Amino acid sequence: MATVPTITLNNGVEIPQLGFGVFQIKPEETREATLAALEVGYRHIDTAEMYGNEKEVGQAVRDSGLDRGEVFVTSKLNNGFHARDAALRAFDQSLIDLGFDHLDLFLVHWPLPGIDVDYVETWKAMEEIYRSGRAKAIGVSNFKEHHLRRLFGETEIRPAVNQVEIHPYLAQDELRAFDAEHQIATEAWSPIAQGKVLDDPAIVRVAERVGRTPAQVTLRWHIQRGDIVFPKSVTRSRVEENFALFDFELSEGDLREITALDHNERTGPDPDAFNYIPG
Ligand SMILES: NC(=O)c1ccc[n+]([C@@H]2O[C@H](COP(=O)([O-])OP(=O)(O)OC[C@H]3O[C@@H](n4cnc5c(N)ncnc54)[C@H](OP(=O)(O)O)[C@@H]3O)[C@@H](O)[C@H]2O)c1
Repeated sequence: MATVPTITLNNGVEIPQLGFGVFQIKPEETREATLAALEVGYRHIDTAEMYGNEKEVGQAVRDSGLDRGEVFVTSKLNNGFHARDAALRAFDQSLIDLGFDHLDLFLVHWPLPGIDVDYVETWKAMEEIYRSGRAKAIGVSNFKEHHLRRLFGETEIRPAVNQVEIHPYLAQDELRAFDAEHQIATEAWSPIAQGKVLDDPAIVRVAERVGRTPAQVTLRWHIQRGDIVFPKSVTRSRVEENFALFDFELSEGDLREITALDHNERTGPDPDAFNYIPG
């Protein structure tokens, strides 16, 4: 089984650079899909309260026979729970649903700059959670530079990670550089743009040149750039394919050819315009 490299977060916690994402996996399929990923060798699972499948992720970890400490699990604070007390309760509920006594990483899912609870207040609740020792690391998701700068100015603990949309059509090099400058690890969500980049002629060309699949070269591009990725798939063969990234390398030219595809195209919402709260 390949060894997945780890990245050391700014508080010393180690996170596997490759994980398995469970967004849009139906709860009734999540246990099986997560178990398959753990069997293949993934040791990092990315879920969220919003995905409605934390219970099944927790069940899969227990059923895998692995120790809890062998699997890095991330979850995220849902949008309706940004006020302090609601955030503390939502974290407790995520632990109950997962059946865990701690999370490896807990994230604020979206900044929601237009709602009446300021994300700075939410981050202060995240700091309380971190200080309780039940989240080994805390971070944010979908934060832009100006959101992060407010946290730096008004709170005490620096986010360990920023999880944002990144793929060859949205390379986010400025935000990645900003994160790096401030010791924040960048996680790339939708790393293959939900499949959209896989027919791109440049990706297909690089894949043919190195004798790998379009998904593998796209994921390898992320790995060589230093980002953390967790592709989602309910298809066993793809779960295996997406894990086989550590026995080949892309050249500088290959990396440049893929990065040149960047044209700032999002598949998801712009965080500054997204204020959705589930009903
Ligand atoms: N923080 C956030 O706001 C946020 C937002 C979105 C996602 N995320 C996280 O990021 C993870 C990954 O993003 P994502 O699920 O949106 O998209 P993704 O991983 O970029 O793509 C998943 C899609 O690609 C297909 N696929 C996977 N591997 C493939 C392969 N080797 N060849 C061809 N097709 C393949 C999957 O199909 P099948 O499943 O049918 O095989 C699925 O339709 C999520 O699961 C979640 O954990 C976070």
